[in-house]
Amino acid sequence: MRILVTGAAGFIGSNFVRWLLSQDKLAEQITVLDSLTYAGNLANLEDVLESPVLRFVRGDIRDAETVEGIITDDRIDAIINFAAESHVDRSILDPLAFVRTNVEGTQVLLRAAQEKNVKRFLQVSTDEVYGSLGETGKFLETTPLDPSSAYSASKASADLLVLAAFKTHGYDVCVTRCTNNYGPFQFPEKFIPLFVTNALHDQALPMYGDGKNVRSWLHVDDHSRAIWAVLTNGKAGEVYNVGGTDADEKPNIEVAEQILSVLGKPKSLITFVEDRKGHDRRYAVDFTKINSELGWAPQVSFEDGLRETVNWYVENTEWWQSVKSGDYQRFYDTYYGKRLAAG
Ligand code: NAD
Ligand code: DAU
Repeated sequence: MRILVTGAAGFIGSNFVRWLLSQDKLAEQITVLDSLTYAGNLANLEDVLESPVLRFVRGDIRDAETVEGIITDDRIDAIINFAAESHVDRSILDPLAFVRTNVEGTQVLLRAAQEKNVKRFLQVSTDEVYGSLGETGKFLETTPLDPSSAYSASKASADLLVLAAFKTHGYDVCVTRCTNNYGPFQFPEKFIPLFVTNALHDQALPMYGDGKNVRSWLHVDDHSRAIWAVLTNGKAGEVYNVGGTDADEKPNIEVAEQILSVLGKPKSLITFVEDRKGHDRRYAVDFTKINSELGWAPQVSFEDGLRETVNWYVENTEWWQSVKSGDYQRFYDTYYGKRLAAG
């Protein structure tokens, strides 16, 4: 199979490409299309860039000409769309950027895929499209969409466009909706790498609200396996939830304490700050469908995965120190400056 993977200089896409290359000869050719935004980093693919089956193209998924050129030149069989603006806090500051990439970009890609007869289009989506849960229950694939942020609203819109292509044209699409990922190479704006890297510098860990918001954590390797399972055996027109087990559901405060305990740093670094606007209280998905139809289940326990991830950041300071400088530092100062001063 010849695959176009968009957004693969980011956290999850790069993991997927690395995983795919480690599985002997699953893919004949992998073309990566990534515009290298602040979140995209070729260092994430450094160990595989020289692979003879990998081709990297710097470009935007909104650019139909580039996309169509790749599909024709590389005779693409399937597209996996990871490319997105992915951070909720940034979507509060600049919602239009999220509409541009996540909605417009997905539609441009989808249209090109249909016109050039790409056999399958897999949209990598998120459980955030379902909104927020109370203390009990889980999201099913049939749970109505109820997004809370411009990020999740733009991802929900993209899902609907992708599913509409199946309904209107019978085009072969699948959508995966995954819970929170963690692992190596995650950009340090996200909760776990932000807290690990701040703690390593003995800086405050900015905990939103009361710290009792719950996320269901999934190691990124498990997500990569799920995507391959859906790409190769998922049913056309279907949505598949992907997520952790009951044991992987954790309140943020507990995750922060676990990070500090692995690092041997004091709990006093945790600083409660003003809550995120529209902060979803709890996420958890029922992944029975992908489990029973495709045999997928998570393999990495949160305890093992978190320890291994924290140690990766300890051992790879050069990687995160370079991405934490420049533009990211400006975002951090703007977004957290007043919060931390008041906290
Ligand atoms: P990320 O922010 O680390 O990476 C996004 C990548 O997309 C970057 O390499 C960036 O350069 C690229 N990109 C952005 N705009 C682009 C454009 N217009 N054209 C081409 N490339 C562009 O994101 P991530 O955490 O790896 O998430 C990947 C996908 O998985 C996203 O679609 C996200 O919504 C989804 N997802 C993420 C999580 C999570 O916990 N991180 C969970 C579920 C689903
Ligand atoms: O559920 C899947 C989603 O998970 C993905 O679709 C998103 O791309 C991904 O960013 C993630 O969204 P969250 O908003 O859940 O992740 P984030 O890492 O931003 O925050 C996780 C939790 O930690 C959330 O409850 C907010 C809290 N938090 C986060 C940051 C950055 C803090 O308390 N302080 C912080 O500084």
